Amino acid sequence: MNRVISISNHKGGVGKTTSVVNIGAGLAIQGRKVLLIDLDPQANLTISFGIPESENSIFNTFTKGKELEPVNIKENIDVIPASSDLAAVEIKLSLETNQNNNISGLIDPLRSKYDYIIIDCPPSLGLLTLNAFAASDEVIIPIQPHFLAVKGLAKIIEVVNKIKSTINRKVEISGVFVTMFDKRRILHKDVLDTIIMYFDDRVFKTKVRSNIALAEAPVLGKDIFEYDQSSNGAFDYGRIVLEVIDMEAEFGN
Ligand SMILES: Nc1ncnc2c1ncn2[C@@H]1O[C@H](COP(=O)(O)OP(=O)(O)OP(=O)(O)O)[C@@H](O)[C@H]1O
Ligand SMILES: [Mg+2]
Repeated sequence: MNRVISISNHKGGVGKTTSVVNIGAGLAIQGRKVLLIDLDPQANLTISFGIPESENSIFNTFTKGKELEPVNIKENIDVIPASSDLAAVEIKLSLETNQNNNISGLIDPLRSKYDYIIIDCPPSLGLLTLNAFAASDEVIIPIQPHFLAVKGLAKIIEVVNKIKSTINRKVEISGVFVTMFDKRRILHKDVLDTIIMYFDDRVFKTKVRSNIALAEAPVLGKDIFEYDQSSNGAFDYGRIVLEVIDMEAEFGN
């Protein structure tokens, strides 16, 4: 079984990187072998794991025509770090089906080594994100429950469909979940209804609540399960992970 999943939302600061780190960590705890790829020139995922900018970044690999060399972080988790130079990759990228010329060509040889390959996308729908979708089986979208966040959803759906109808027939939005949820806020409930209207049964049952521990953990280079097992963040991401695992029968290759 393997799955290649992009975690994407072109809106910034919605919890993409936090979700990649903690879903990855939770899957590893559940015995899955996981590769996390930092495809964001901000390199927040790389920084969260305390990895220095290195020769192994996806930029170097791409520009020098080398194979990706994952860095082992902990049991069952490898990472492909980013560096700020990743922005330059965007210039070199092409969306051709030529496998030597895009990110799918780099990722495909690694598929058999992992149960999950999860890509942390930048907050845009530029070429890096398009390439991530072209290389992925699934796109999972974290959404912060704001009115404006919902407005952007039509665009990401359109882009995934465009990739699906051109270079990657397989890719689909397999799930959507709410992050930084605060049940005391009425607006959040309204937004949740709208999200369910768009995505129906692809909306995760679990909502990730606002929880300060989720913001504190990466400062110490830790995932939420290492940082505070008893936090709401650990509870919520633990549940999200179980929902991701439940999808294996339908989405696993
Ligand atoms: N559930 C949560 N509760 C509280 N804070 C959170 C939660 N999820 C994420 N954060 C914090 O919110 C900020 C933005 O999160 P994160 O970096 O994961 O978003 P992002 O979508 O990856 O951002 P970008 O678009 O810049 O890549 C971070 O400081 C993070 O620690
Ligand atoms: Mg991020």
